Amino acid sequence: MEMKIGVIKGDGIGPEIVDEAMKVLDQTAKVYGHSISYTQLLMGGASIDVNGVPLTEETLQLAKDSDAVLMGSIGGDAKTSPWYQLEPSKRPEAGLLQLRKGLNLFANLRPAVLYDELKGACPLKKEIADRGFDLMIMRELTGGLYFGKRSTEEIDGVLTAKDELTYNENEIRRIAKRAFDIAMKRRKKVTSVDKANVLDSSRLWRSVVEDVAKDYPDVTLEHMLVDNCAMQIVHNPCQFDVVLTENMFGDILSDEASMVTGSIGMLSSASLNDTRFGLYEPSGGSAPDIAGKGIANPIATILSAAMMLRYTFDLDKEAEAIEAAVKQVLKDGYRTIDIMPQEEDKKKNEPERFQALQPDKLPEIKEFSFAEQAPHIERPQNQESQAANLGNTVSAKKDTPVEEKEESLPENNNDKILRLHKQGMSSVDIAKELGLGVGEVKLVINLFKGA
Ligand code: IPM
Ligand code: MG
Repeated sequence: MEMKIGVIKGDGIGPEIVDEAMKVLDQTAKVYGHSISYTQLLMGGASIDVNGVPLTEETLQLAKDSDAVLMGSIGGDAKTSPWYQLEPSKRPEAGLLQLRKGLNLFANLRPAVLYDELKGACPLKKEIADRGFDLMIMRELTGGLYFGKRSTEEIDGVLTAKDELTYNENEIRRIAKRAFDIAMKRRKKVTSVDKANVLDSSRLWRSVVEDVAKDYPDVTLEHMLVDNCAMQIVHNPCQFDVVLTENMFGDILSDEASMVTGSIGMLSSASLNDTRFGLYEPSGGSAPDIAGKGIANPIATILSAAMMLRYTFDLDKEAEAIEAAVKQVLKDGYRTIDIMPQEEDKKKNEPERFQALQPDKLPEIKEFSFAEQAPHIERPQNQESQAANLGNTVSAKKDTPVEEKEESLPENNNDKILRLHKQGMSSVDIAKELGLGVGEVKLVINLFKGA
Protein backbone atom coordinates (compact mmCIF):
# COMPACT_ATOMS: atom_id res chain seq x y z
CA MET A 1 0.00 0.00 0.00
CA GLU A 2 1.07 3.57 -0.71
CA MET A 3 0.71 5.82 2.30
CA LYS A 4 0.88 9.62 2.10
CA ILE A 5 1.60 10.80 5.59
CA GLY A 6 1.86 14.42 6.66
CA VAL A 7 4.25 14.85 9.58
CA ILE A 8 4.07 17.65 12.11
CA LYS A 9 7.07 17.20 14.36
CA GLY A 10 6.14 20.26 16.38
CA ASP A 11 7.92 21.74 19.37
CA GLY A 12 9.76 20.59 22.49
CA ILE A 13 10.11 16.81 22.55
CA GLY A 14 7.92 16.59 19.40
CA PRO A 15 10.71 16.12 16.83
CA GLU A 16 12.52 13.40 18.80
CA ILE A 17 9.44 11.32 19.57
CA VAL A 18 8.14 11.61 16.01
CA ASP A 19 11.53 10.50 14.65
CA GLU A 20 11.24 7.30 16.67
CA ALA A 21 7.71 6.67 15.46
CA MET A 22 8.81 7.21 11.84
CA LYS A 23 11.59 4.64 12.26
CA VAL A 24 9.01 2.17 13.50
CA LEU A 25 6.67 3.00 10.61
CA ASP A 26 9.49 2.62 8.10
CA GLN A 27 10.45 -0.74 9.53
CA THR A 28 6.81 -1.86 9.52
CA ALA A 29 6.47 -0.80 5.89
CA LYS A 30 9.63 -2.73 5.04
CA VAL A 31 8.51 -5.91 6.78
CA TYR A 32 4.97 -5.83 5.38
CA GLY A 33 5.74 -4.45 1.93
CA HIS A 34 4.24 -0.95 1.97
CA SER A 35 5.63 2.35 0.83
CA ILE A 36 5.40 5.61 2.74
CA SER A 37 5.95 9.15 1.58
CA TYR A 38 6.25 11.82 4.26
CA THR A 39 5.48 15.51 3.87
CA GLN A 40 6.89 17.66 6.65
CA LEU A 41 4.41 20.27 7.87
CA LEU A 42 5.00 23.18 10.21
CA MET A 43 2.53 23.88 12.98
CA GLY A 44 2.63 25.48 16.42
CA GLY A 45 5.74 27.28 17.62
CA ALA A 46 7.85 25.94 14.74
CA SER A 47 5.42 27.59 12.31
CA ILE A 48 5.35 30.85 14.27
CA ASP A 49 9.14 31.01 14.00
CA VAL A 50 9.03 30.61 10.22
CA ASN A 51 5.65 32.03 9.17
CA GLY A 52 4.65 34.28 12.03
CA VAL A 53 1.43 32.27 12.57
CA PRO A 54 0.90 28.82 14.12
CA LEU A 55 -0.90 27.39 11.07
CA THR A 56 -0.98 28.63 7.49
CA GLU A 57 -3.67 27.94 4.88
CA GLU A 58 -1.06 26.07 2.81
CA THR A 59 -0.22 23.76 5.70
CA LEU A 60 -3.90 23.06 6.32
CA GLN A 61 -4.28 22.23 2.62
CA LEU A 62 -1.22 19.96 2.67
CA ALA A 63 -2.68 18.18 5.69
CA LYS A 64 -5.96 17.73 3.81
CA ASP A 65 -4.04 16.31 0.85
CA SER A 66 -2.43 13.64 3.05
CA ASP A 67 -4.05 10.30 3.93
CA ALA A 68 -3.21 10.93 7.57
CA VAL A 69 -1.11 13.21 9.74
CA LEU A 70 1.30 12.05 12.40
CA MET A 71 2.03 14.71 14.97
CA GLY A 72 4.41 15.18 17.89
CA SER A 73 3.41 17.93 20.26
CA ILE A 74 3.28 21.68 20.13
CA GLY A 75 3.84 24.59 22.48
CA GLY A 76 6.59 25.86 24.74
CA ASP A 77 7.17 27.16 28.23
CA ALA A 78 4.50 29.82 28.65
CA LYS A 79 6.68 31.69 31.18
CA THR A 80 9.75 32.01 29.01
CA SER A 81 8.87 31.40 25.36
CA PRO A 82 8.34 34.46 23.12
CA TRP A 83 5.42 32.59 21.48
CA TYR A 84 3.37 33.46 24.57
CA GLN A 85 3.99 37.18 24.14
CA LEU A 86 1.72 36.97 21.10
CA GLU A 87 -2.01 37.46 21.33
CA PRO A 88 -3.81 34.17 22.18
CA SER A 89 -5.05 33.54 18.64
CA LYS A 90 -1.45 33.53 17.36
CA ARG A 91 -0.01 31.14 19.96
CA PRO A 92 0.97 27.53 19.21
CA GLU A 93 -2.19 25.98 20.73
CA ALA A 94 -4.39 28.10 18.47
CA GLY A 95 -2.78 26.36 15.47
CA LEU A 96 -3.76 22.97 16.86
CA LEU A 97 -7.35 24.08 17.39
CA GLN A 98 -7.53 25.53 13.86
CA LEU A 99 -6.17 22.30 12.48
CA ARG A 100 -8.73 20.20 14.38
CA LYS A 101 -11.55 22.44 13.24
CA GLY A 102 -10.23 22.82 9.69
CA LEU A 103 -10.09 19.04 9.29
CA ASN A 104 -13.40 18.52 11.13
CA LEU A 105 -11.75 16.12 13.57
CA PHE A 106 -14.64 15.79 15.96
CA ALA A 107 -13.86 12.37 17.43
CA ASN A 108 -10.81 12.05 19.64
CA LEU A 109 -9.97 8.55 20.83
CA ARG A 110 -7.61 8.26 23.77
CA PRO A 111 -7.03 4.72 24.97
CA ALA A 112 -5.63 4.31 28.49
CA VAL A 113 -4.33 0.85 29.25
CA LEU A 114 -2.34 -0.28 32.26
CA TYR A 115 0.34 -2.59 30.93
CA ASP A 116 1.12 -5.52 33.16
CA GLU A 117 4.78 -4.56 33.08
CA LEU A 118 4.08 -0.98 34.19
CA LYS A 119 2.13 -1.73 37.32
CA GLY A 120 5.16 -0.54 39.26
CA ALA A 121 4.87 2.90 37.66
CA CYS A 122 1.13 3.17 38.37
CA PRO A 123 0.54 5.67 41.16
CA LEU A 124 -2.61 3.91 42.38
CA LYS A 125 -2.81 1.58 45.38
CA LYS A 126 -1.50 -1.87 44.59
CA GLU A 127 -4.89 -3.57 44.95
CA ILE A 128 -6.34 -1.22 42.34
CA ALA A 129 -3.37 -1.47 39.96
CA ASP A 130 -3.43 -5.26 40.26
CA ARG A 131 -6.87 -5.39 38.72
CA GLY A 132 -5.62 -3.51 35.65
CA PHE A 133 -7.78 -1.38 33.41
CA ASP A 134 -8.33 -0.71 29.75
CA LEU A 135 -10.52 2.23 28.87
CA MET A 136 -11.09 4.36 25.82
CA ILE A 137 -11.88 8.02 26.22
CA MET A 138 -14.01 9.30 23.35
CA ARG A 139 -13.59 13.06 23.56
CA GLU A 140 -15.62 15.46 21.43
CA LEU A 141 -12.98 17.66 19.85
CA THR A 142 -14.46 20.45 17.77
CA GLY A 143 -17.14 21.97 20.00
CA GLY A 144 -17.81 23.20 23.50
CA LEU A 145 -15.78 25.76 25.37
CA TYR A 146 -12.80 25.38 23.05
CA PHE A 147 -14.69 26.81 20.10
CA GLY A 148 -17.30 29.04 21.71
CA LYS A 149 -17.15 32.84 21.59
CA ARG A 150 -14.77 34.34 24.09
CA SER A 151 -14.07 37.85 25.21
CA THR A 152 -12.44 39.86 27.92
CA GLU A 153 -13.85 43.29 28.55
CA GLU A 154 -14.29 45.83 31.24
CA ILE A 155 -17.84 45.94 32.51
CA ASP A 156 -18.58 48.76 34.95
CA GLY A 157 -14.87 49.15 35.55
CA VAL A 158 -14.38 45.43 36.28
CA LEU A 159 -12.40 43.18 33.94
CA THR A 160 -14.71 40.35 32.93
CA ALA A 161 -13.90 37.32 30.79
CA LYS A 162 -16.42 35.12 29.06
CA ASP A 163 -16.18 31.71 27.33
CA GLU A 164 -19.25 30.20 25.74
CA LEU A 165 -20.08 26.51 25.96
CA THR A 166 -22.35 25.46 23.11
CA TYR A 167 -23.35 22.04 21.78
CA ASN A 168 -26.06 21.28 19.30
CA GLU A 169 -27.80 17.93 19.09
CA ASN A 170 -26.08 16.98 15.82
CA GLU A 171 -22.64 17.46 17.31
CA ILE A 172 -23.60 15.29 20.27
CA ARG A 173 -25.26 12.62 18.14
CA ARG A 174 -22.29 12.03 15.83
CA ILE A 175 -19.77 11.64 18.65
CA ALA A 176 -22.16 9.46 20.65
CA LYS A 177 -22.55 7.15 17.66
CA ARG A 178 -18.79 6.81 17.43
CA ALA A 179 -18.61 5.90 21.10
CA PHE A 180 -21.28 3.21 20.76
CA ASP A 181 -19.65 1.82 17.61
CA ILE A 182 -16.33 1.47 19.42
CA ALA A 183 -18.06 -0.03 22.47
CA MET A 184 -19.58 -2.72 20.22
CA LYS A 185 -16.04 -3.83 19.40
CA ARG A 186 -14.97 -3.77 23.02
CA ARG A 187 -16.77 -4.69 26.25
CA LYS A 188 -20.04 -3.05 25.23
CA LYS A 189 -20.29 -0.39 27.88
CA VAL A 190 -20.48 3.38 27.47
CA THR A 191 -20.11 5.76 30.38
CA SER A 192 -21.32 9.17 29.25
CA VAL A 193 -19.78 11.87 31.37
CA ASP A 194 -21.42 15.26 31.88
CA LYS A 195 -22.39 17.85 34.46
CA ALA A 196 -26.14 17.51 33.98
CA ASN A 197 -26.85 18.62 37.55
CA VAL A 198 -25.69 22.11 36.56
CA LEU A 199 -25.30 22.69 32.82
CA ASP A 200 -27.94 22.92 30.08
CA SER A 201 -25.43 21.69 27.51
CA SER A 202 -24.98 18.56 29.65
CA ARG A 203 -28.71 17.99 29.92
CA LEU A 204 -29.01 18.07 26.14
CA TRP A 205 -25.94 15.82 25.94
CA ARG A 206 -27.59 13.27 28.22
CA SER A 207 -30.88 13.16 26.33
CA VAL A 208 -29.24 12.85 22.90
CA VAL A 209 -26.91 10.10 24.15
CA GLU A 210 -29.93 8.23 25.53
CA ASP A 211 -31.60 8.53 22.18
CA VAL A 212 -28.56 7.18 20.33
CA ALA A 213 -28.32 4.31 22.84
CA LYS A 214 -31.69 3.00 21.60
CA ASP A 215 -29.97 1.89 18.39
CA TYR A 216 -27.44 -0.13 20.38
CA PRO A 217 -29.45 -2.49 22.58
CA ASP A 218 -26.35 -4.63 23.28
CA VAL A 219 -24.43 -1.74 24.82
CA THR A 220 -24.92 -0.81 28.46
CA LEU A 221 -25.14 2.94 28.91
CA GLU A 222 -24.51 4.70 32.18
CA HIS A 223 -24.30 8.41 32.93
CA MET A 224 -21.74 9.80 35.33
CA LEU A 225 -21.13 13.31 36.55
CA VAL A 226 -17.69 14.54 35.64
CA ASP A 227 -16.55 15.17 39.23
CA ASN A 228 -17.52 11.65 40.18
CA CYS A 229 -15.77 10.32 37.07
CA ALA A 230 -12.54 12.07 38.04
CA MET A 231 -12.79 10.28 41.39
CA GLN A 232 -13.70 6.90 39.91
CA ILE A 233 -10.68 6.94 37.57
CA VAL A 234 -8.39 6.78 40.57
CA HIS A 235 -10.70 4.68 42.72
CA ASN A 236 -11.87 1.97 40.35
CA PRO A 237 -10.66 2.49 36.77
CA CYS A 238 -11.43 -1.06 35.63
CA GLN A 239 -15.16 -0.28 35.71
CA PHE A 240 -14.75 1.79 32.51
CA ASP A 241 -14.86 0.62 28.92
CA VAL A 242 -15.72 3.61 26.68
CA VAL A 243 -15.90 7.00 28.37
CA LEU A 244 -17.83 9.43 26.18
CA THR A 245 -17.51 13.10 26.99
CA GLU A 246 -17.37 16.66 25.70
CA ASN A 247 -14.24 18.56 24.78
CA MET A 248 -13.14 20.20 28.03
CA PHE A 249 -14.05 17.31 30.32
CA GLY A 250 -12.27 14.97 27.92
CA ASP A 251 -9.13 17.07 28.01
CA ILE A 252 -8.97 16.86 31.78
CA LEU A 253 -10.06 13.25 32.21
CA SER A 254 -7.67 11.99 29.54
CA ASP A 255 -4.68 13.50 31.32
CA GLU A 256 -5.87 11.91 34.53
CA ALA A 257 -6.42 8.54 32.85
CA SER A 258 -2.98 8.68 31.26
CA MET A 259 -1.28 9.37 34.56
CA VAL A 260 -2.75 6.26 36.16
CA THR A 261 -1.31 4.18 33.33
CA GLY A 262 2.07 5.16 34.73
CA SER A 263 2.90 8.11 32.52
CA ILE A 264 1.38 10.53 30.07
CA GLY A 265 4.14 9.32 27.78
CA MET A 266 2.11 6.13 27.21
CA LEU A 267 -1.13 7.64 25.93
CA SER A 268 -1.71 7.61 22.18
CA SER A 269 -4.57 9.31 20.42
CA ALA A 270 -6.47 9.43 17.15
CA SER A 271 -8.58 12.36 15.99
CA LEU A 272 -11.02 11.34 13.31
CA ASN A 273 -13.62 12.92 11.03
CA ASP A 274 -16.25 11.35 8.79
CA THR A 275 -13.68 10.01 6.31
CA ARG A 276 -10.73 7.67 6.79
CA PHE A 277 -8.45 10.63 7.39
CA GLY A 278 -7.03 10.98 10.89
CA LEU A 279 -4.59 13.04 12.92
CA TYR A 280 -2.54 10.88 15.24
CA GLU A 281 -0.66 12.32 18.16
CA PRO A 282 0.48 11.48 21.68
CA SER A 283 -1.85 12.99 24.27
CA GLY A 284 0.98 14.50 26.28
CA GLY A 285 2.44 17.95 25.85
CA SER A 286 5.71 19.15 24.36
CA ALA A 287 7.62 18.92 27.68
CA PRO A 288 10.13 21.66 26.79
CA ASP A 289 12.01 21.02 30.05
CA ILE A 290 13.24 17.63 28.83
CA ALA A 291 13.45 18.39 25.10
CA GLY A 292 16.68 17.44 23.33
CA LYS A 293 17.97 15.31 26.22
CA GLY A 294 17.11 12.00 24.59
CA ILE A 295 15.02 10.91 27.57
CA ALA A 296 11.49 11.53 26.29
CA ASN A 297 9.20 8.51 26.08
CA PRO A 298 8.35 7.82 22.42
CA ILE A 299 5.81 5.07 23.17
CA ALA A 300 2.67 7.25 22.95
CA THR A 301 3.76 8.46 19.51
CA ILE A 302 4.68 4.97 18.36
CA LEU A 303 1.28 3.70 19.54
CA SER A 304 -0.36 6.65 17.75
CA ALA A 305 1.36 5.51 14.56
CA ALA A 306 -0.13 2.05 15.18
CA MET A 307 -3.57 3.64 15.53
CA MET A 308 -2.97 5.39 12.21
CA LEU A 309 -2.29 2.08 10.49
CA ARG A 310 -5.46 0.64 11.97
CA TYR A 311 -7.95 3.48 11.55
CA THR A 312 -6.79 5.23 8.36
CA PHE A 313 -5.14 2.40 6.45
CA ASP A 314 -7.06 -0.61 7.77
CA LEU A 315 -3.76 -2.39 8.42
CA ASP A 316 -4.74 -4.27 11.57
CA LYS A 317 -1.97 -6.84 11.37
CA GLU A 318 0.69 -4.15 11.09
CA ALA A 319 -0.83 -2.16 13.94
CA GLU A 320 -0.93 -5.25 16.12
CA ALA A 321 2.72 -5.98 15.32
CA ILE A 322 3.73 -2.56 16.58
CA GLU A 323 1.61 -2.91 19.70
CA ALA A 324 3.06 -6.36 20.35
CA ALA A 325 6.56 -4.94 19.93
CA VAL A 326 5.87 -2.19 22.47
CA LYS A 327 4.65 -4.78 24.96
CA GLN A 328 7.72 -6.89 24.26
CA VAL A 329 10.06 -3.97 24.83
CA LEU A 330 8.38 -3.28 28.16
CA LYS A 331 8.46 -6.94 29.07
CA ASP A 332 12.16 -6.99 28.31
CA GLY A 333 12.53 -4.36 30.98
CA TYR A 334 13.43 -1.34 28.89
CA ARG A 335 12.23 1.92 30.35
CA THR A 336 12.41 5.64 29.80
CA ILE A 337 12.77 7.59 33.01
CA ASP A 338 9.06 8.45 33.33
CA ILE A 339 8.08 4.80 33.59
CA MET A 340 10.94 3.63 35.79
CA PRO A 341 9.70 1.86 38.87
CA GLN A 342 10.02 3.53 42.25
CA GLU A 343 13.22 2.87 44.23
CA GLU A 344 11.78 0.09 46.36
CA ASP A 345 10.34 -1.72 43.33
CA LYS A 346 13.62 -1.38 41.53
CA LYS A 347 15.41 -3.24 44.30
CA LYS A 348 13.11 -6.21 43.78
CA ASN A 349 14.22 -6.54 40.18
CA GLU A 350 17.60 -7.15 38.63
CA PRO A 351 18.91 -3.61 38.35
CA GLU A 352 20.43 -4.10 34.91
CA ARG A 353 17.02 -4.87 33.41
CA PHE A 354 15.90 -1.35 34.22
CA GLN A 355 18.38 0.56 32.21
CA ALA A 356 17.50 4.09 31.22
CA LEU A 357 16.62 3.78 27.60
CA GLN A 358 17.83 6.17 24.98
CA PRO A 359 14.76 6.51 22.78
CA ASP A 360 16.70 5.60 19.66
CA LYS A 361 17.31 2.12 21.08
CA LEU A 362 13.62 1.41 21.28
CA PRO A 363 12.94 0.99 17.56
CA GLU A 364 15.97 -1.26 17.19
CA ILE A 365 14.48 -3.57 19.72
CA LYS A 366 11.09 -3.13 18.18
CA GLU A 367 12.51 -3.97 14.79
CA PHE A 368 13.85 -7.12 16.28
CA SER A 369 10.76 -7.87 18.29
CA PHE A 370 8.12 -7.39 15.75
CA ALA A 371 9.96 -9.21 13.05
CA GLU A 372 10.63 -12.02 15.51
CA GLN A 373 7.56 -11.99 17.67
CA ALA A 374 4.58 -10.92 15.68
CA PRO A 375 4.01 -14.13 13.74
CA HIS A 376 4.14 -16.20 16.93
CA ILE A 377 1.88 -14.07 18.99
CA GLU A 378 -1.61 -15.44 19.26
CA ARG A 379 -4.15 -12.74 18.82
CA PRO A 380 -7.90 -12.66 18.73
CA GLN A 381 -9.46 -11.52 15.46
CA ASN A 382 -9.96 -7.99 16.61
CA GLN A 383 -7.49 -5.86 18.41
CA GLU A 384 -10.04 -4.01 20.48
CA SER A 385 -11.00 -7.20 22.27
CA GLN A 386 -7.38 -8.20 22.68
CA ALA A 387 -6.65 -4.85 24.25
CA ALA A 388 -9.79 -5.25 26.28
CA ASN A 389 -8.30 -8.26 27.97
CA LEU A 390 -4.94 -6.79 28.77
CA GLY A 391 -6.04 -5.29 32.04
CA ASN A 392 -7.63 -8.50 33.08
CA THR A 393 -4.51 -10.49 32.40
CA VAL A 394 -3.25 -8.59 35.37
CA SER A 395 -6.13 -9.50 37.61
CA ALA A 396 -6.06 -13.15 36.58
CA LYS A 397 -2.42 -13.45 37.50
CA LYS A 398 -3.10 -12.10 40.92
CA ASP A 399 -2.49 -14.51 43.79
CA THR A 400 -5.35 -13.16 45.84
CA PRO A 401 -8.49 -15.26 45.59
CA VAL A 402 -11.41 -13.74 43.72
CA GLU A 403 -13.55 -13.61 46.87
CA GLU A 404 -11.05 -11.35 48.57
CA LYS A 405 -10.95 -9.00 45.59
CA GLU A 406 -14.69 -8.68 45.71
CA GLU A 407 -14.54 -7.09 49.12
CA SER A 408 -12.66 -4.07 47.90
CA LEU A 409 -13.76 -3.65 44.29
CA PRO A 410 -16.65 -4.83 42.13
CA GLU A 411 -15.97 -7.72 39.78
CA ASN A 412 -15.46 -6.88 36.14
CA ASN A 413 -16.77 -9.06 33.31
CA ASN A 414 -13.60 -11.07 32.90
CA ASP A 415 -13.45 -11.87 36.60
CA LYS A 416 -17.04 -13.02 36.41
CA ILE A 417 -16.27 -15.21 33.40
CA LEU A 418 -13.35 -16.82 35.17
CA ARG A 419 -15.29 -17.38 38.37
CA LEU A 420 -18.18 -19.05 36.53
CA HIS A 421 -15.73 -21.09 34.44
CA LYS A 422 -14.04 -22.31 37.62
CA GLN A 423 -17.47 -23.27 38.94
CA GLY A 424 -17.77 -25.55 35.90
CA MET A 425 -20.27 -23.53 33.86
CA SER A 426 -19.97 -23.94 30.07
CA SER A 427 -18.88 -21.05 27.84
CA VAL A 428 -22.34 -20.93 26.26
CA ASP A 429 -24.05 -20.66 29.65
CA ILE A 430 -21.59 -18.05 30.87
CA ALA A 431 -22.20 -16.02 27.72
CA LYS A 432 -25.95 -16.24 28.28
CA GLU A 433 -25.69 -15.35 31.95
CA LEU A 434 -23.52 -12.28 31.34
CA GLY A 435 -25.06 -11.20 28.04
CA LEU A 436 -21.75 -11.59 26.17
CA GLY A 437 -20.70 -13.31 22.95
CA VAL A 438 -19.54 -16.94 23.29
CA GLY A 439 -16.37 -16.04 21.37
CA GLU A 440 -15.48 -13.38 23.88
CA VAL A 441 -16.05 -15.75 26.80
CA LYS A 442 -13.87 -18.43 25.22
CA LEU A 443 -11.18 -15.88 24.50
CA VAL A 444 -11.00 -14.78 28.12
CA ILE A 445 -10.89 -18.38 29.34
CA ASN A 446 -8.14 -19.24 26.86
CA LEU A 447 -6.10 -16.20 27.73
CA PHE A 448 -6.00 -17.16 31.37
CA LYS A 449 -5.36 -20.87 30.97
CA GLY A 450 -2.65 -21.74 33.43
CA ALA A 451 -2.47 -18.21 34.80
C1 IPM B 1 -4.59 18.07 24.33
C2 IPM B 1 -3.92 19.38 24.66
C3 IPM B 1 -4.58 20.48 23.86
C4 IPM B 1 -6.05 20.52 24.28
C5 IPM B 1 -3.92 21.85 24.03
C6 IPM B 1 -2.47 21.82 23.63
C7 IPM B 1 -4.66 22.93 23.29
O1 IPM B 1 -3.97 19.62 26.02
O2 IPM B 1 -4.56 17.67 23.16
O3 IPM B 1 -5.15 17.46 25.24
O4 IPM B 1 -6.39 21.11 25.30
O5 IPM B 1 -6.85 19.90 23.57
MG1 MG C 1 -4.79 18.02 27.16
